[in-house]
Amino acid sequence: MTTESQAAETAKRRYNRIATVYDFMESVVERSRYSKWREMLWSKVEGTHILEVGVGTGKNFVYYPAHAEITAIDFSEKMLVYARDKAGKKGVQVHLQQMDVQNLEFEDNTFDTVVASFVFCSVPDPVRGLMEVERVCKPKGKMLLLEHVLSANRTLAWLMNLVNPIVVRVVGANINRRTVENVIKSGLRVEQVTDLAAGIFKLIEARKRVN
Ligand SMILES: C[S@@+](CC[C@H](N)C(=O)[O-])C[C@H]1O[C@@H](n2cnc3c(N)ncnc32)[C@H](O)[C@@H]1O
Repeated sequence: MTTESQAAETAKRRYNRIATVYDFMESVVERSRYSKWREMLWSKVEGTHILEVGVGTGKNFVYYPAHAEITAIDFSEKMLVYARDKAGKKGVQVHLQQMDVQNLEFEDNTFDTVVASFVFCSVPDPVRGLMEVERVCKPKGKMLLLEHVLSANRTLAWLMNLVNPIVVRVVGANINRRTVENVIKSGLRVEQVTDLAAGIFKLIEARKRVN
């Protein structure tokens, strides 16, 4: 097994482990903050062919636009069990597939918008994942991300870097990612970054360039 696939297996195992408690674990922040940020995120979707990356247990289902054709992927089979169950119960039309964002099985230029919430904090190679997103996006297609990133405050950033190894082992997410910079590295053009809370939670809007 390569170092790359080992890293993906480790990250996947962490999400498989927390899948049963994920909704409960996030319930307080979900009600107080995340739900309104998700609503904002999905209100910015363009077009009809939509990809959700890292669907998790399907917390975004209630915000899916009507009349859109939505495909949602996750590499954790346990997360997908909960997503399938939720989609069935809520009658959500979504094509759920197990897939790693670092190796998407879709053709180039497939989707009008790609959406992800709290995903690129845990993708082992986030720039590679974002490059894959760029590839499957149609020219002028949109990428919408809801993410927590490393604080620009030096003291807080020091603390976040210090505790990150523990956080990532317990919940699978890195709290010290520079996701705006990673989006730029992937080749996507960042159009807008909205600070949602504490300079840490961001809504990132980017677009695929037309060559
Ligand atoms: C913190 S959870 C967020 C779930 C959901 N997007 C939400 O907002 O509740 C991160 C999700 O991303 C998935 N994920 C992480 N790395 C991934 C990768 N390389 N490919 C596909 N899914 C991935 C995890 O399995 C997990 O379900």
